[in-house]
Amino acid sequence: MVKNMHGRVNEFVEAMEESRPEQPGAAAQPSGKVLPVSVDTLARDPEVQAYIEAANANLGVIGFTEHGTRHANLVARIARNVLRRLDYDPHLQELAAISGYLHDMGNAISRYDHALTSALLARDILLRYGVAPADIALVMGAIGSHGDDAQRLGEAVHPVSAALILADKSDVHRSRVRASDPGKFDAHDRVNWAVESSFLRVDPEQKSITLELTIDTSISQVMDYFEIFLPRMLMCRRAAELLGCNFHIHINGVELL
Ligand SMILES: [Fe+2]
Ligand SMILES: [Fe+2]
Repeated sequence: MVKNMHGRVNEFVEAMEESRPEQPGAAAQPSGKVLPVSVDTLARDPEVQAYIEAANANLGVIGFTEHGTRHANLVARIARNVLRRLDYDPHLQELAAISGYLHDMGNAISRYDHALTSALLARDILLRYGVAPADIALVMGAIGSHGDDAQRLGEAVHPVSAALILADKSDVHRSRVRASDPGKFDAHDRVNWAVESSFLRVDPEQKSITLELTIDTSISQVMDYFEIFLPRMLMCRRAAELLGCNFHIHINGVELL
């Protein structure tokens, strides 16, 4: 079964893969740049707090999983860690964390085009703190490129953007499920509920980024995971390539991609 699935996954990915220009992958030298705001300050900002709270509440009403401060914090932490492990400039690491924290605020306006609206809301907030326009542009590019609508998959456009995509798409976990009655779970709830642990391993020596998942297959089959999340995994693969790495998925200790 694993072998068949491995084949199916690869077929799917190859079918969707386009010819892409060679990606840089080399880490930048430390720039010594200092940002006028940190992700910790932004997390305490009343405007940011209000937008994330409203975004999470709105998405709850229309049946989406948790998108609140838990998700924002986790994505910020993982995005920073991806660039830190690959030895990118600390300035870019902080921008990745900021992008991660702010990336879903636009859901306060609407789920539709939330990547774009989140980017514009982030712009206003970062301007208020006096962040340089070039840095705001990086954050906007990262946030604006993270969406995973089936018709318009976001694509990593620079290392900060790649780190955000990898961090966001790897947050699959039962703690994101809001419904308390398993009888009311939709497909996303069931797959998230089945995931007991998820970890994004970045190996700078091997140039590999691996999403390691533990799934309770009595709740959801591994294939269910791929049916729902394969487009996101393709985004991750492209993001890893931009960082000069290969992307892998291990589920219950078995390499599937
Ligand atoms: Fe999002
Ligand atoms: Fe997100």
